[in-house]
Amino acid sequence: MLVNDPFPPSEFDSWAEHYDQSTLESTIFPFNGYEKVLQTVLGRAESRPGHAVLDLGTGTGKLALLFDKIGCELWCSDFSPLMLEKARAKLPHAHFALHDLRQAWPSEFERSFDVIVSAYVFHHFELAQKVSICRDLVENRLVPGGKLVIADLSFPDRIAMKTFAASIGDLWDEEFYWLADESLPALRQAGLRAEYEQVSVCAGVYTLC
Ligand SMILES: C[S@@+](CC[C@H](N)C(=O)[O-])C[C@H]1O[C@@H](n2cnc3c(N)ncnc32)[C@H](O)[C@@H]1O
Repeated sequence: MLVNDPFPPSEFDSWAEHYDQSTLESTIFPFNGYEKVLQTVLGRAESRPGHAVLDLGTGTGKLALLFDKIGCELWCSDFSPLMLEKARAKLPHAHFALHDLRQAWPSEFERSFDVIVSAYVFHHFELAQKVSICRDLVENRLVPGGKLVIADLSFPDRIAMKTFAASIGDLWDEEFYWLADESLPALRQAGLRAEYEQVSVCAGVYTLC
């Protein structure tokens, strides 16, 4: 565990029991358009039955479940034991790892994946860390031709973010949300091919390879 972590696993453990209920509040920040965001990840990933899919920060397994339904082989990681417990109940045949994305991977996950996905996780990391994790995933953990598809809280630019923040008042929470006009150049400068789609007023999907 990291010392002085601003977003420790315990914060997510305490959310695990009512997390699925929170995501149903799809007109309220941060889950505006949640189901559409997950469906966009599924569409962008273009997975086929049998594909090995790694879901980072799987939470209760809601995104992973969409890939399970089309016959993919699921590999799911999260650093919250109680979130993982919920995901295991939904996906008993998937592979799971209790893992902090900022740390070295456990040996059983040392392999390549056809697709790597993640939803609502990377906004806990500053931009340089986002880029560094994405580069490692694309360069070292995807099969040739594989894709990394990341959905998260994200805005076209800082003005759009501030306008949205002002519109929701006390519901706003300051975290490291993606700003596409800063993130895309940083990702491309790191050698990645990167596309972005704004899906809801506060969330979007990055497709990287
Ligand atoms: C908002 S939930 C999203 C869950 C799921 N991906 C979804 O879309 O519903 C964020 C998840 O990311 C996990 N998480 C946050 N920081 C993490 C880190 N550094 N390493 C691994 N998991 C992390 C949390 O434990 C939590 O389950």
